[in-house]
Amino acid sequence: MDKKDYKILFVCLGNICRSPMAEFIMKHKVAESGVADRFEIASAGTSDEERGNPVYPPARKMLYRHGISCDGKYSRQIVPEDYHYYDLIIGMDSSNISDMYYAFGGDPEGKIRLLLDYTGHSRNIADPWYTGDFQATWDDVNEGCDALLVDLGLI
Ligand code: 4NP
Repeated sequence: MDKKDYKILFVCLGNICRSPMAEFIMKHKVAESGVADRFEIASAGTSDEERGNPVYPPARKMLYRHGISCDGKYSRQIVPEDYHYYDLIIGMDSSNISDMYYAFGGDPEGKIRLLLDYTGHSRNIADPWYTGDFQATWDDVNEGCDALLVDLGLI
């Protein structure tokens, strides 16, 4: 009975900006839709650069502004077991995808996707660590999560 319908791992480079935003936006959306109990949602980074660090303050602030808490989230790096555990592993940009192919030894079960693939106009989500534009990150991640929910037949 504790088997979730969907186990989703969002992945970016550092796991302190984009993928935690995706994790907590998606958790918020499934809770609002009354289907949170069908999901297990988490995030991780391809790099261990930020391991153990909390969500980067501007990303945290953007979530708080929308009534979403990310307290208790600390960066972790992907591990090979993630590939078998999760049903869907969703990267933010094409580097995340190629880094995951390397870390997981390919994608034999077709679980790896780019978040904005779901929107029908696939592209990378720019890294706000470098651009400083957290509003653009919010807009892209929010649109991607809505499109993912449509793809899963939930909205
Ligand atoms: P993220 O952004 O991949 O969206 O979490 C980054 C955060 C930190 C670093 C790179 C990207 N870093 O190199 O420390």
